[in-house]
Amino acid sequence: TQRSLVLVKPDGVARGLTGEVIRRIEAKGYTLARLELRTATRELLEQHYEEHVGKPFYEPLVEFMLSGPVAAIVIEGERCIEGFRSLAGATDPTAAAPGTIRGDLGRDWGLKVQQNLVHGSDAPESAEREIGIWFPQS
Ligand code: GTP
Ligand code: MG
Repeated sequence: TQRSLVLVKPDGVARGLTGEVIRRIEAKGYTLARLELRTATRELLEQHYEEHVGKPFYEPLVEFMLSGPVAAIVIEGERCIEGFRSLAGATDPTAAAPGTIRGDLGRDWGLKVQQNLVHGSDAPESAEREIGIWFPQS
């Protein structure tokens, strides 16, 4: 079975939506393999977002991700990488479809696309890479 790294970002944790995100993951039938509340560091985020280093939104994204604790979750299940991204919805919460986490619970909080509640790995290689970054002991 597949594994994916899910993050409830600082906006989701601050708004008390961690449980709602976990509820949707479990209702879909995925298993929680790891679950930890944690404040990121700049070093960890530089690894996690290595594909975005140097982009215009990189620095605001990192500042946002450092603004409070995140819930780091490893989920397990058949095709859970694609499945969770489907649960999460489009990157921009304003454009995300109703029924998705971002579509139901997010909106454009003053043109801050980075405040989109959750992260989900986008491919098996990135999932294993990201799980290794957040849970090096696994
Ligand atoms: P993740 O699951 O969080 O990785 O979202 P994604 O895969 O849909 O988006 P992507 O990996 O392209 O970007 C990572 C994160 O950077 C997004 O979730 C947003 O938080 C932020 N981001 C992406 N594009 C933009 C942008 O154009 N402007 C801003 N401000 N933030 C962006
Ligand atoms: Mg991504």
